[in-house]
Amino acid sequence: PRIVVLISGFGSNLQALIDAVNNGTLKATISLVVSSKATAYGLKRAEAANIPTLVFPLQAYRDAGKSRIEYDIDLATKIKAYEPDLVVLAGWMLILSNQFLEHFAQKTVINLHPALPGQFDGTDAIRRAYEAYKRGEIQNTGVMVHKVIPEVDRGEPIMVEEVAILETDTLDDLEARIHSVEHRLIIAGANKALHELNV
Ligand code: GRF
Repeated sequence: PRIVVLISGFGSNLQALIDAVNNGTLKATISLVVSSKATAYGLKRAEAANIPTLVFPLQAYRDAGKSRIEYDIDLATKIKAYEPDLVVLAGWMLILSNQFLEHFAQKTVINLHPALPGQFDGTDAIRRAYEAYKRGEIQNTGVMVHKVIPEVDRGEPIMVEEVAILETDTLDDLEARIHSVEHRLIIAGANKALHELNV
């Protein structure tokens, strides 16, 4: 099966996917890596793994007076050309509209989000969880892989793992603990999605 991975930054989750393909725990090929940022370090990871890359910044559309919808449609068209069985959003920081998602069958697009279902949707989830913990509002947080629908981080979860927050934790401690769970869960989520897609 073919996977297309979308990134916007450091790409540590992309690296986990690359490593899993190389060590056989993810039986698929990564056909393309798309980045919304030209400066994303994840692009170097893809290049080092000889994976084709596409830099596709939204700003170029804005500068050309083109709409967000046009961006989404063109992005979907470019990805479709690689005929992916699965599209994985791994640290992708743009909201994808229905005009993007309707090009892909249900279940084909999954996202990794560093929070429990419905708890801290959107950006900066780890810091928001940490602050909620410090206010005594939550005892722990988590990571999930979910199917992507137009509502941000609201699709049906396919993998969920709770992550403990310790009294002694700094935000960095929690980030590190969450990222290590992410790097495992994104593989498990991709395998589960591929299994559900029978590919
Ligand atoms: C991760 O917490 C990811 O879930 C979030 O961005 C962070 C960085 O991901 N969306 P990566 O290192 O770019 O994969």
